[in-house]
Amino acid sequence: MTVGIAIRVARPADIARLSSTLGTPHGDFFAGRLPLQEAGLGEVLVAWRGGAPVGAVFVSWDVADEPEVRKHLADVPMISHLQVADAHRHRGVGRTLLRHAEQRLRWRGHTRVLLGVDKSNEVARRLYEWLGYVQPDEPELCDLGAEPGRTADPAAETYDILVADLYRGGPGWP
Ligand SMILES: CC(C)(COP(=O)(O)OP(=O)(O)OC[C@H]1O[C@@H](n2cnc3c(N)ncnc32)[C@H](O)[C@@H]1OP(=O)(O)O)[C@@H](O)C(=O)NCCC(=O)NCCS
Repeated sequence: MTVGIAIRVARPADIARLSSTLGTPHGDFFAGRLPLQEAGLGEVLVAWRGGAPVGAVFVSWDVADEPEVRKHLADVPMISHLQVADAHRHRGVGRTLLRHAEQRLRWRGHTRVLLGVDKSNEVARRLYEWLGYVQPDEPELCDLGAEPGRTADPAAETYDILVADLYRGGPGWP
């Protein structure tokens, strides 16, 4: 683990502090996932440094929203909304959150994990690929969100699904 970072499952009382470091929209996103956590369908993991929350991620083993994911990657859990506060980036927090998310999925008996990355998000994609995430062969798992009628927002970003073996080992782990 990167020195000085502790990862814990979120409690409702953490949300206000997460909102103040990550911004209200992200705090609201994680608040909206707490009922799923309560229902046993996923977990919000929060990274703490020096007593303050500096990042968070949601891990879900619920049924995926996207039909393409349900078709090709049924039962593969998902990591979503990895978010690190601006002032704490480039110091291993993102990697540490991913490492813990993956560890918790192994404990639950999963062997693979997936995530979606926006086409334009080169920083995140570089990090995921460096850590061993790969684009699956199925073309249907690329450019999601571009299908007619899928979103009312014409400016909405399209994204690709990446997948990793949870027992791959390799570089990048702090
Ligand atoms: C993407 C994000 C979570 C990364 O968080 P982070 O805490 O900065 O990430 P880390 O420090 O653990 O990892 C980044 C490091 O990985 C390493 N790394 C990544 N790709 C690498 C490569 N190809 N080769 C070697 N090292 C690499 C580098 O050390 C890099 O550090 P650098 O950013 O200083 O170059 C953060 O930038 C963020 O919150 N972005 C906005 C939200 C977002 O885009 N989330 C992803 C949604 S899919």
